[in-house]
Parts: sequence; structure tokens; C-alpha cells
Amino acid sequence: MAFGSADSYARFMGRFSEPLAPLFADVLTEFDGRLLDVGCGPGVLTAELVGRYGAARVDAIDPTPGFVAAARNRLPEVDIREGTAEELPYADDTYGAAYAQLVVHFMKDPVRGLAEMARVTAPGGPVAACVWDHGGGRGPLSPFWSVVAEFDPAETRELNSAGSRAGDLARLFGEAGLVDVIDGELSVTIHLDSFDEWWAPYEERVGTVGDYLSTRTPAQVTELRDRCHAQLGDGPFDLTAVAWTATGRSPQG
Ligand SMILES: C[S@@+](CC[C@H](N)C(=O)[O-])C[C@H]1O[C@@H](n2cnc3c(N)ncnc32)[C@H](O)[C@@H]1O
Repeated sequence: MAFGSADSYARFMGRFSEPLAPLFADVLTEFDGRLLDVGCGPGVLTAELVGRYGAARVDAIDPTPGFVAAARNRLPEVDIREGTAEELPYADDTYGAAYAQLVVHFMKDPVRGLAEMARVTAPGGPVAACVWDHGGGRGPLSPFWSVVAEFDPAETRELNSAGSRAGDLARLFGEAGLVDVIDGELSVTIHLDSFDEWWAPYEERVGTVGDYLSTRTPAQVTELRDRCHAQLGDGPFDLTAVAWTATGRSPQG
């Protein structure tokens, strides 16, 4: 899947993930040692963690080269590597805590990715992840996908993404061997001045939305846009998006 450039990502998803980062960082409060941001993208959560705990305590990793470059540019003092959650290039017990903000549903093998996060976290140290509530229709892209569903009911990629339904993320944590698993949710509300402000990043063909729109004809894209416009109105309006969270602890021994 094409995530687009770091700038496109910031316009499309960053407008939701930036305000989510401080809320998600608050989810873990008790840990020692170094922190790892898995699937850091252009560095939204990494920057939040650096602001709180200092660059010397934070590492990050992401498989998308353009995002790694943008994150390194934003945070030159942080060790940011290129790689996936499923094969973390760190020794066992390197970190006091590990985070994955909006990443589990992109992992090819979410259980393996979470198990790797547990492996590199010291025994008893916390691991946290969050995924938008795509399955429950409360994600930032849900207004778009609900309109798609009206005339393309076979299109279910977002609805069925891993960890995006109630209880699913906590179940994946359990399967990955994490203990003391607790689930919860976080919500962010952003203000949009107009429908055009909401739609503009959709023209940049980012992520799953971009993949879907690339399969549509220009006339179909226009129809989709018009239906979204009818649904959301001219604006201004506020949009609230909800993310599921799960936390757990790396098992002893
Ligand atoms: C929605 S973005 C989230 C980025 C960042 N954490 C944020 O909150 O803005 C999803 C990120 O997951 C990364 N990703 C995709 N597959 C991954 C995998 N198997 N392991 C780790 N990260 C992955 C992508 O490169 C992308 O940066």
C-alpha cells in the first residue's frame, strides 16, 4: 500500500494523529529506561515522547523509507531505523516500554509484531498500541467509507482491519503473550472550516483510501465526493475520531 509522501500523510492523517499522540503517550506512565516507537511514520508520536522524556531515551523504527527520512529530519538526535515490527532489529529486553500508534492494522502479522514488541521490552515493562475504530464506524475515514458502502458493499478492507473492532486489539495482545492486558479508547475532535478542507487530502491518494480511489473512474470519484459533500454539508464542522487502545506487560522470563 502507498502511504504517500510525509507531507501528504500529514495533511491526510496527521491532522488526526497529531492530537492523538499526547493522549496515547498518557496511556503509559510507569516504566524505566528507553522507549521504542514502532511504526513511527514521520515522527508524530516520536516527537511527543522526545518532548516528554528526552531524545536520549527514545528510539523509533518504520518500514517506509520516505517516512524514516522525514522523521530523521524532524528529530535528528533520535536513532530511527528502517524495519518492520515483525522483525525488530534490537536485542531482548532493550526497552522499558514500546508503543505502536496506528500501526497494528498495517502489520502483515500483527501477533508476531506485538510479540516482537514484547520481546524487546524488559519483563514487566509495558507495551501499548492503538488503532482507529474503523470496524465500529468511528474512525477518521469512516465518513468516507460509509458513503463507499452505500454503492460498493463488497468494499470492506477498512471495516475488517486488524484491531479495529471492540476487544480485537486486546485479543491480539493476549495471543502475542502480553499479560495484564487492559483495553480502552481515546477520542480526538478536529475542526474543519469547510467540506473542501476535509476533501482536499483525499485528492492526494494516500493509504487505503488512495488505493481505493485509484480503482475508480474520474466520474465515480466525482460521484463519491458529491455524496460525501451531501452527507457532511458545506461546513464548518467538527469531526470526532475514536481509537481503541490496549496495554499489556511483557511476560517474565
Ligand atoms: C497510519 S501510519 C502511523 C504513523 C505514526 N505512528 C503516526 O501515528 O502518525 C502507519 C505506519 O505504519 C507503518 N507500517 C506499515 N507496516 C508496518 C510494519 N509491518 N511494522 C511496522 N510499521 C509498519 C507505515 O510505514 C506507517 O508509517
